[in-house]
Amino acid sequence: MPMQMQDLQDLFVMKLNDIYDAEQQGLQAMQQLSQRVQSPELKQGFQQHIEQSQQQVSRLEQIFQQMGQQPNGEKNLGIQGLIQESQKLLSQDASPEVLEAGIIACQQAMEHYEMAAYGTARTYAQLLNNDQAVQLLEQTLDEEKQNDEKLTQVAEKINVQAMQG
Ligand SMILES: [Fe+2]
Repeated sequence: MPMQMQDLQDLFVMKLNDIYDAEQQGLQAMQQLSQRVQSPELKQGFQQHIEQSQQQVSRLEQIFQQMGQQPNGEKNLGIQGLIQESQKLLSQDASPEVLEAGIIACQQAMEHYEMAAYGTARTYAQLLNNDQAVQLLEQTLDEEKQNDEKLTQVAEKINVQAMQG
């Protein structure tokens, strides 16, 4: 059913729905990807990220609740496409290092998607004077940025290993 899209508040709700489903799909994808990595650093990173995402989901639920809304359960096709790209990688005959380097790249693409979405939602919340939402969204945005930096650090090592094939 088409949503009412008449003002920034409506767009904000739509964005929250996008992010909510992105987090859910991301959680499933990370559970799958974490089983395919061998480096303890990366495995541990995935574990932390999974736990963090569960908290991020509950922050979004708080925002919905505070606005008297409920997630509409619509599929986020953007993140779905990124996850399909990572599936493509998993089905190749890749060496462990190459696979890990590729998995990090997929993970970072998802991270950047989330950073863009959370950044937009935070900005909307600021304009709408929804202070609680600003605070919750910013908290998650900071976590996503930190995760992205951590992934870059791991990638710097694994990419070099992948060069050796
Ligand atoms: Fe997230």
